[in-house]
Amino acid sequence: MSRFPTVRMRRVRENATLRNMLTEVVLEPRHLILPVFVCPGKGVSNPIPSLPGVSHWSVDRLPEVVEPAAAVGVRAFLFFGLPTYKDSDGTSAFDPEQPVQRAMRRLRSMYPDVLLIADTCMCEYTSHGHCGHLRPDGGVDNDETLSLLSRAAVSQAEAGAHMVAPSDMMDGRVSAIRAALDAAGFSGVGIMSYAAKLASAFYGPFRDAAGSAPSFGDRRGYQLPPSNPREIMRDALMDVGEGADMLIVKPAGPCLDIAARLRERTDLPLAGYVVSGEYAMLHAAVSDCSLDRTRALLEYHTAVRRAGCDLVITYFAAELAALAADQASQRGLVFPITL
Ligand code: PBG
Repeated sequence: MSRFPTVRMRRVRENATLRNMLTEVVLEPRHLILPVFVCPGKGVSNPIPSLPGVSHWSVDRLPEVVEPAAAVGVRAFLFFGLPTYKDSDGTSAFDPEQPVQRAMRRLRSMYPDVLLIADTCMCEYTSHGHCGHLRPDGGVDNDETLSLLSRAAVSQAEAGAHMVAPSDMMDGRVSAIRAALDAAGFSGVGIMSYAAKLASAFYGPFRDAAGSAPSFGDRRGYQLPPSNPREIMRDALMDVGEGADMLIVKPAGPCLDIAARLRERTDLPLAGYVVSGEYAMLHAAVSDCSLDRTRALLEYHTAVRRAGCDLVITYFAAELAALAADQASQRGLVFPITL
């Protein structure tokens, strides 16, 4: 065993150049995915009170989000929609005239290099705010929901989505969506599944933003119990077997252990989603408790990469990527954002 004083760990970190050379985990703009909320109407950019700095955008104004982010290297966007109507089965999720579908059509033709990912779930579209078709007893009917999700995914693919991201947590949704996409001629459209999605308090601000809070009960009947790591792993690995192309874990910070375990168990690309409540938490800590904003954001997002995530979905994506651009000009380096 190596021992002090022969071994001195500080030799490899006292020199700034050496620290830079030895950086193991870097965050680069290409690793980041920016979530975007699309709303009906024209000329709309409405700040979301629960997510300071994030807005609802109507389709015509989406270039104001996409272009600045793309200019600093963020090329992938995850879209959530606010529909013009809701009903008990969330049928507006597969209406081609709703905001997400209109956004896909518009952006696909405008920006050939941008990757469009559509969140596939029913909760933004149902009048009751649950993620699927309700049984008479008020629970979500798993198998009935699969056909609704499949129709939503096909409609998003028809509109131009490169990938769909099912976030509902029904059993069997990945294979159902895969079969539906293939049958409709979209075998090239990938599935980025929310494989480990915890029943989390950290989605609170998102539900305000998307108007998707359940009107009764909660989502513990389908989302995963934060206390059950073995159950979480079993559930996540089901999606691998069903043909998911990439996996998402969320909320990222509270799921770092799960990300690390999934990294060991599968070679699929992994993404960590720094969700709305984590955004709110970091935002509040920076503004109310004087954390250094840049360092706190870098440390938090680097931890997600260090846990084994290739990609990070985050409302801070454009801000982080802009830091990289800044760093590049200062140091003459091309890419990495290092701590
Ligand atoms: C839809 C969905 C949710 C989030 C992503 N997709 C909310 C939920 O499950 O209630 C949360 C994202 C965030 O908090 O930023 N099911």
